[in-house]
Amino acid sequence: MNEPLIMSLSPRAGGNSDHAAALFARSLDRESRPVFLREHQIEPCTGCGCCAEDGLCRIGADGAEELFSRLDRASGLVLTAPVYFYHLPSQAKAWIDRAQSRYMARQSGLRTPQALRCAYVVLVAGRTRGENLFAGILPTLNYFLQVFDFRIEKTLCLRGLDGADDFSRDRAAADAVRDLARSSGW
Ligand SMILES: Cc1cc2nc3c(=O)[nH]c(=O)nc-3n(C[C@H](O)[C@H](O)[C@H](O)COP(=O)(O)O)c2cc1C
Repeated sequence: MNEPLIMSLSPRAGGNSDHAAALFARSLDRESRPVFLREHQIEPCTGCGCCAEDGLCRIGADGAEELFSRLDRASGLVLTAPVYFYHLPSQAKAWIDRAQSRYMARQSGLRTPQALRCAYVVLVAGRTRGENLFAGILPTLNYFLQVFDFRIEKTLCLRGLDGADDFSRDRAAADAVRDLARSSGW
C-alpha cells in the first residue's frame, strides 16, 4: 500500500468534480495528485462471460485494468463524480462494469478479500432538488468498491453545481470537502 488515490470521474476537464478532487488533495497533509478517469482508455464490458471461468477479462490490459491495479495498491480512495441522468457518466459506468472480472474472481475464490480500506465519495449535481438525485449512484459505487475491499466511509452529495466553476464559487461546498478530507486523517 502506498498512498490514497484521488480520482475524478468527470468527462469535463476543469469542472466541479475536478475542483473537488483537487481541493480534497490540497487539504491533506501529504502531497497527492488527482487522477482523471477521462485520460484513460476504457473499453466497455461485452458480457462475453469468459471471466466466469477464471476471473480474467479477455479485453486485455487497457486503462481499466491499470486503474484497478492502482485501486489495489491505494491505502484509501476518494472518488468525485457528477450526476448524469441520475447516474454516473458513461465512462465511469464502463469502468465499473469492467470490474465484473474481479467480482467473478472473488466469487470463485480466486481472489480473497483483504482488509477493508476507507473510501470517500463526493457527488455533484446541477439540480438543487430531487429526492432521488443520487439514489442510482450510491448502491453502484458501494458494490463496486466492495469488490476492491473499500468501505465508503462518508459521501458528500452537493446540489446546485452546474457551471464548471460553480464549486469554486461555493464556499459551503468547499468547506464541506475540506472537512471531509480532514476527517479522513490521511
Ligand atoms: C449529460 C448530462 C446529464 C446530466 N444529468 C443531470 C441530472 O440528471 N441531474 C442533475 O442534477 N444534473 C445533471 N447534469 C448536470 C451535471 O451534474 C452538472 O453540470 C455537474 O456540475 C457536472 O459536474 P462536472 O463539472 O464535475 O463535470 C447533467 C449534465 C450532463 C452533461
